Amino acid sequence: MKVDFTQDKISELKGEIVCFLHVQDDDPPPEIAQFLKVKKERYEGKLLQTISSDTGGKLGFKHLLVIGLGKKEEFRLDNLRRAAGLAVRYASGRKEKEVTVAVQKLPGDNITPQKAAQALAEGAILASYRFTEFKTKKDEIFEVGKVVIASAAAGNIDMKDAQEGIHIGTIMADAQNYARSLDDQPANIAQPQKIAGWAKELSRECKLDIEILDKSRMKKMGMNALLAVAQGSAQEPLLVKLEYNKGKKLPLYCVVGKGVTFDSGGISIKPSQNMHEMKYDKTGAMNVLGVLKAASELKLPIRLIGIMPLVENMPSGSAQRPGDIVKAYNGKTIEVLNTDAEGRLILADALAYAAEQKPECIIDMATLTGAIVVCLGKHAIGLFSNDDKLSEALSAAGEETYERVWRLPIWPEYSEMMKADFADIKNISEQGEAGSITGAVFLKEFIGECRWAHLDIAAVDYVKTPHPYLEKGASGIGVRLVVQALSGLATKK
Ligand code: BES
Ligand code: ZN
Ligand code: ZN
Repeated sequence: MKVDFTQDKISELKGEIVCFLHVQDDDPPPEIAQFLKVKKERYEGKLLQTISSDTGGKLGFKHLLVIGLGKKEEFRLDNLRRAAGLAVRYASGRKEKEVTVAVQKLPGDNITPQKAAQALAEGAILASYRFTEFKTKKDEIFEVGKVVIASAAAGNIDMKDAQEGIHIGTIMADAQNYARSLDDQPANIAQPQKIAGWAKELSRECKLDIEILDKSRMKKMGMNALLAVAQGSAQEPLLVKLEYNKGKKLPLYCVVGKGVTFDSGGISIKPSQNMHEMKYDKTGAMNVLGVLKAASELKLPIRLIGIMPLVENMPSGSAQRPGDIVKAYNGKTIEVLNTDAEGRLILADALAYAAEQKPECIIDMATLTGAIVVCLGKHAIGLFSNDDKLSEALSAAGEETYERVWRLPIWPEYSEMMKADFADIKNISEQGEAGSITGAVFLKEFIGECRWAHLDIAAVDYVKTPHPYLEKGASGIGVRLVVQALSGLATKK
């Protein structure tokens, strides 16, 4: 989707459909007010409340949709994403190729015109994503191709600011949609080999360095925890390392993503109900691809390594068993008490490998625990970190992107719970308490002295219930968050 900007007033513009974003209690300009007068009893301007009208030639547009932005005092940037998303969905429902989104006035004093334009572009582009590759009735697929953002009160948004905001918002949302388009692929297609191919394509497009470790290489290196998960599957595991700005004298950051292409649970098999959703257990890794794409397109002044351990967790005659003991890449031994706690096993090796690169910090994204859904519901990402500054950067980025994080403790008492009878550490605590935290402190054993943050994205990886700008399916949540955090860390240095 393309997003344009114009400073022309609504009365000067033409087209099929215009959506006017209206701050509750503000007086709309007369050309809009004339349509509201008639129907005022039904419309107050509450957030995402709408009222539509054919213009009967009184405007350059044939159809008008007024979208409420809610009260000025309660305004936040995400309301613009939501409203732009709604505008695109509405236009799509009416099979319009183009929609104009007019903003009367920016509510909130701390919201810059650039940020507002960015949010509008993001909401519009994110709302336009659909996973239609496997639909054969192609004539039923419809996409809105263009959104024009119009600053209805001339001079309210500066042209340069707006264009910069749209530029950044387009990169962010395109990267998120890219991650979604891979994450939505089913597990019979998105196998380690295939995903490595996508990573190669990305490396060509974005001029990234790429290195792929295969099974024999990982065996030689001693990545036995990762290999133990993979041994039950007919698909060979791979570990992909992508690097942006390799060799440049810039601070190095590292992002690591859990890439379980399908999580059946292994011998500790999952119940069959909803098991199909475990194709989304590769979300962390797909988000890593999205982060690398955006970081390179935004030309962030950092070096960035992305690491994706790619395995399938299946039960078979060659699968690992509960009770097996493996030695991880950093030399620590793990007693595998539950083969369904496989994400932490592949991340153990991937994180130890990441720490070896000596980055400023490591951020990992993983659909690690079902317990995080119980803990935070679908509205937050679980954050675990050994560093306050990094946590603050992620929290601030979460507020800005509305991919919010909530920090949970990783106190030594939790690590005690993970001590094993017959090895250094076990992969679950049999107490069944604090499931997300015990997962996080397990990971902590493998990062050495590195500054690190773990994002448990298991509650937000895909959308099942209606969301203002994300259609049912992969959400790509985490991509904008991490890019924003990296950009914040890079500029604060
Ligand atoms: N991939 C799952 C976590 C998950 C669950 C993601 C639901 C999304 C939705 C992970 O590998 C897993 O199975 N974790 C176990 C851990 C347990 C065995 C300690 C879980 O959450 O049940
Ligand atoms: Zn699992
Ligand atoms: Zn899993």
